[in-house]
Amino acid sequence: MISVSLADPAVAAGSGPGTGPEVPWWTSSVVYQVYPRSFADSDGDGIGDLRGITSRLDYLEQLGIDVLWLSPIYPSPQDDNGYDISDYTGVDPLFGSLADLDELIAGAHERGIRVVMDLVVNHTSDEHPWFVESRSSVDSPKRDWYWWRPARPGTTPGEPGAEPTNWGSFFSGPAWEHDEASGEYYLHLFSRKQPDLNWENPEVRRAIHQMMRWWLDRGVDGFRMDVINMISKDVSLPDGVVPEGGTHGDGGPFFLCGPRIHEFLAEMHAEVVAGHEATLLTVGEMPGVTVEQARLFTDPARHEVDMVFQFEHVGVDQGASKWDVLPFRLTALKESLGRWQAGLAATGWNSLYWNNHDQPRVVSRFGDDGEHRVRSAKLLGTVLHLHRGTPYVYQGEELGMTNAPFASIEDFRDIEAVNHYRHAVELGEQPADVLASLRAMGRDNARTPMQWDASPNAGFTTGTPWLAVHPDHTSVNAEAAVADPDSVFHHYRRLIGLRKSEPAVALGDFTMLLPEDPVVYAFTRRLGDVELLCVANFSGEPVRPDLPDWEEWRRTDLLIGNVAGSSGAELAAWEARVHRRRRDS
Ligand code: NOJ
Repeated sequence: MISVSLADPAVAAGSGPGTGPEVPWWTSSVVYQVYPRSFADSDGDGIGDLRGITSRLDYLEQLGIDVLWLSPIYPSPQDDNGYDISDYTGVDPLFGSLADLDELIAGAHERGIRVVMDLVVNHTSDEHPWFVESRSSVDSPKRDWYWWRPARPGTTPGEPGAEPTNWGSFFSGPAWEHDEASGEYYLHLFSRKQPDLNWENPEVRRAIHQMMRWWLDRGVDGFRMDVINMISKDVSLPDGVVPEGGTHGDGGPFFLCGPRIHEFLAEMHAEVVAGHEATLLTVGEMPGVTVEQARLFTDPARHEVDMVFQFEHVGVDQGASKWDVLPFRLTALKESLGRWQAGLAATGWNSLYWNNHDQPRVVSRFGDDGEHRVRSAKLLGTVLHLHRGTPYVYQGEELGMTNAPFASIEDFRDIEAVNHYRHAVELGEQPADVLASLRAMGRDNARTPMQWDASPNAGFTTGTPWLAVHPDHTSVNAEAAVADPDSVFHHYRRLIGLRKSEPAVALGDFTMLLPEDPVVYAFTRRLGDVELLCVANFSGEPVRPDLPDWEEWRRTDLLIGNVAGSSGAELAAWEARVHRRRRDS
């Protein structure tokens, strides 16, 4: 068991972010996400594991991060790489043992790093004993722990169209699975092996709270809550609108931020988090959340969660679905992030991210992964980390890792990609077009193994990696980056340091500038008499920022930049600068 405590005397429970001299510790923290399957393999089976992560803690300490978020390591059939959990209080042998996890947590704590676990409680695996029992009989005491419904009246159970609602699942096909034994259907918003838990049932909620307390007692420092805004559904389960050309209805309006969501999160806070606020971190993943809802979720006075992951800014290059790839427009990105900055300025708090295990690599998406890879990766890091909120770094982002060169559908492993390809081709889409959108948006882009060195499997494994290593690891790797003071890694290290040394980075007010400029991203941060300007050129051509006081600004202190010795009136291709000045209040 873990005994090292990270209680921070500077933290005052109950103080709103940025409202006084005592503010929550996570306002000046940076979180690093590890996707265990792809981080470091200690036993040569081709799959990353806990001992592998422990062996790389010195690297994370050198980067300077404060919190380690672990994607799921629990026992799982691995239908969705561990987001289908069959035992909430164990460790999958693929990743090691509970003792290995204790060792990882202790090693992190010794280095001043907190550990946040993934909490996946919208659904379990269909192999979780709760679901096995629920499925065993319509009279099972756990029947009501999941969403069981009869076929649509007047239809034959099992036939297409007999599903209780017309909702589609996120992983293609209907959101309902027919169970031969009882003739009923169960709801699964994700794969058929991920049945949704029924949070209306108080026993379900009690069991989850108990499990969360068990993890806190074991020494973990908080939770990243998977699709947590889906746990409250409209119990009347209405049909959704079928989009033009679509095959299923959109159930989103009936399960995103549903009627009891605030009640469920407040109850969870009271049952689990209350009394430990000063040391824990809670972040809710919330697809489709609006700024107005996020303000309620993160208002410290409401005691729900510390911050949320919203999805608007990672949807700016997507149309009707994530596979509908649109050209990237910087103005759309600024409009979205600027609105979130303004919306949570007085109450609430943002989490800031470009990448995670579900998103393509940002340098390939919003940057230039060719000639200007290093510089544009640094620019993207600079812009994100200078916003107000808590930044998240996804493994390999600090190296400027890029999207993978997937040649065919055989190269993908992700259930979402594989199912989408099959369904889209069945519906008549051209395979080459489907592949093109998978290459741009597929989640496996983020899941290729971490690139530690230039050796054949990038130092990730001595075996055969479960997903091919990116061929660019011969030049893009941690060993080379740590050795090069001018690397993306050291730029991220400096950005993380800046958040701690310059209070305006963590707590300053945010003002967006030049919202209509198609290539320049510019904003100020202000705290007391300190003002910062972050200005960045999102293009491969030099540009002079159209800021009224640019001549004055460019002569002030340069806090951080990505072009050595630069101070001219023009920003070079993909150049970013952060200036600092004092102003009369
Ligand atoms: C969101 C997770 O980030 C994603 O990886 C997973 O597939 C779904 N939730 C279902 O758990």
